[in-house]
Amino acid sequence: MANLLELRNITKIFRYGLFGFRFKAVDSVSLSLEDKPLIFTIAGESGSGKTTLARIILGFHIPEYGEVLYKGKNIHKLRGYDVKWYRREVQAVFQDPYASFNPLKKVYNYLRETAINIAGIGRDEVDGYIDEVLKAVGLSLDKVVNKYPHEFSGGELQRVAIARALLTKPRLIIADEPVSMLDASLRINIVNMFKDFKERYGISFIYITHDLSTAYYISDNIAIMYRGSVVELGPVEKVLTEPLHPYTQVLIESVPIPNPKARTKWLETIKLSSVVEEKEFIARGCKYASRCPYVMKRCIEEPPPDIAIGSRVVKCWLYSEQKT
Ligand SMILES: Nc1ncnc2c1ncn2[C@@H]1O[C@H](COP(=O)(O)OP(=O)(O)OP(=O)(O)O)[C@@H](O)[C@H]1O
Ligand code: SF4
Ligand SMILES: [Mg+2]
Repeated sequence: MANLLELRNITKIFRYGLFGFRFKAVDSVSLSLEDKPLIFTIAGESGSGKTTLARIILGFHIPEYGEVLYKGKNIHKLRGYDVKWYRREVQAVFQDPYASFNPLKKVYNYLRETAINIAGIGRDEVDGYIDEVLKAVGLSLDKVVNKYPHEFSGGELQRVAIARALLTKPRLIIADEPVSMLDASLRINIVNMFKDFKERYGISFIYITHDLSTAYYISDNIAIMYRGSVVELGPVEKVLTEPLHPYTQVLIESVPIPNPKARTKWLETIKLSSVVEEKEFIARGCKYASRCPYVMKRCIEEPPPDIAIGSRVVKCWLYSEQKT
C-alpha cells in the first residue's frame, strides 16, 4: 500500500548555548504512515525531538537533511496551489489551546476564517457547516459564537481547536500533547474523539504524548524517540507489551500499561541533568550507552543500525548478528 506520509532520514540541527554548540535535535529519522486511517503515536521523554519532528512535518522547520513526502510530494518544495492543498490536508492541534487563539478575538472569527479561506466553504453555508463540525466535538455554534477564548474551560477550548482542525476535512491531524494540560478526567474523552474520527471520517493522527497509557489505548503504531532518534518502532501492542529496546523496557517498567496514575512516576524517572543530555546528543555510538545495563564495547564506538524484527524496527546492537 502507498504511504500517506514518509519521512526519509530527517535531521534537524540546532545551536545551543553561548558557544553555539551544535546538536541534532532530530537525527536521521525515517518513518512512514500507510495510506489508511490510523493513529501513530510518537512518545519519548522531554527534549527527545517530538515537537521538532512535528514542526518539520507541518513545514514550520526545514530539516538540514532528508525529506518529508506527503502523498508522494516533498512538502518543503510545495508551491502555489499545493501550499493551500497541504494546509487543508494536514492540520495541527497543540498542547495549550489558550496559546492557539488571540485572547482579544472571538473564537468564532477563527472558525469562520478557516472555513472560508482554507476549506473554501461558501459564505451562505458557513454557519451551518461550523455548527455541524462543532457538534462533532460536543459543542454547537450557539455555545461558541459570542465568546472570547478566556470564556471557555481548557477542555472546551481544546475541543474548539480540534473543531477548527476538522473544518478543512483534513486527512491527517498532528496532535502535539493535546491533552497534557487537561484534567485526567477530560483526557480520555478527547483521545476517544480521535479514535472516533479515525473510524468515522477516515482521519489519521500523529499523536505526540508522554502518556503511554492513552497511547496504548488509541494507537495502531508507535515510535519511541530518544535524544533525537527513533529507537523502536512498530505496532503499539507489540512495542508496549514486549519491548525490545532497553530504553523502551525502562519506560514500560515505570508505567504498568494501562495505568494512567503511573504517568507522573514515569515522568519523574526520566529527568536528567543537561550535562548528561548534551553528552548523549553528541555520543559517537549509541546515545543510550551511558544508561544502558547491556552496554558493549561496540555500542560506544558505533551507532547501532536499524534492525527489522518481524513488524518492528529496533535501533540496538543487541539484536545484530555481529554484536562485537
Ligand atoms: N528553535 C530551537 N532552537 C534551539 N534548540 C531547540 C529549538 N527547539 C527545540 N530545541 C531543542 O531541541 C531539543 C528537542 O526539543 P523538542 O521540543 O523537539 O522536544 P520534545 O520531545 O517535544 O520535548 P517535550 O516533551 O518537552 O515537548 C531540545 O533539547 C530543545 O531544547
Ligand atoms: S546499542 Fe548497546 S548501549 Fe545502545 S541500547 Fe543497545 S545494548 Fe544498550
Ligand atoms: Mg514537545
